[in-house]
Amino acid sequence: MKIFIDSADIDEVQQVRSYGILDGVTTNPSLIKKAVEKHKIQDMEAYVEKLLRIANGLPVSLEITATDHEGMVKQAERLFDSFNSIANNVVIKIPINPSTESKACYDGLKAIKELTEIGVPVNCTLIFTPEQALLAAKAGAKYVSPFAGRVDDYIRSKLGMSFEKHDYFPQHGMEKDGTLIDDNGIVSGIDLVAKCVKVLQNYGFETEVIAASMRNARQAREAALVGAHIATLPLSVIREMLIHHKTAEGMKKFLDDAPEEYERLMS
Ligand code: G3P
Repeated sequence: MKIFIDSADIDEVQQVRSYGILDGVTTNPSLIKKAVEKHKIQDMEAYVEKLLRIANGLPVSLEITATDHEGMVKQAERLFDSFNSIANNVVIKIPINPSTESKACYDGLKAIKELTEIGVPVNCTLIFTPEQALLAAKAGAKYVSPFAGRVDDYIRSKLGMSFEKHDYFPQHGMEKDGTLIDDNGIVSGIDLVAKCVKVLQNYGFETEVIAASMRNARQAREAALVGAHIATLPLSVIREMLIHHKTAEGMKKFLDDAPEEYERLMS
């Protein structure tokens, strides 16, 4: 499974890049806002250029904010034309359905098709059903991003549970009064990811599934187990993937036991 970092923070991208595990970067307007606040960014153009250079050829998703087809395509072209020449790694994030009104629900698909035709790679975001993923893939999206954590949040709220954002939610879902709680047949975020992977595999699409809105290491493990091509992870989740108390305990014992004569061989 490829690992992307879900962050617009240059320091985090640089840090994870230095570990040799990074395959890409995803941002969204909320993550950009966090970076603006942390780095007190005045010159957004220079910041985005730096982000793309640091990613150095790895794909970086930048999201548009328009909600109509023409506006989305215009913004996407503007971003792509201004920044892709820097490191040839701009991917445009288009929501599957940018509208809250049903009449404009096709604008995302239209934008994906048009951008794909002119060679702009698209990451279709805000995917909450396998059928949305199927339509995005058919329109030409290079990536689809099912939002696993937000599905878990939604199902937990239906269960009436209180929870922290990073809490694990079981892949097989949870019951309330003997009934498995679901969102139109989806019982967890990883269930959504698995079903998106399956649907695209069934028909041989090249579109890659990015397990997004990831909240903890166990969810990242499950994304890999169900065959997600990519997981986009916050730095906190990448860190959590490395930690186990038995690893720390074993490390302490090795350090305590190491004889001085042996240590001298390495000094
Ligand atoms: O990759 C999508 C992600 O940034 C959304 O994550 O944690 O806000 O649901 P979250």
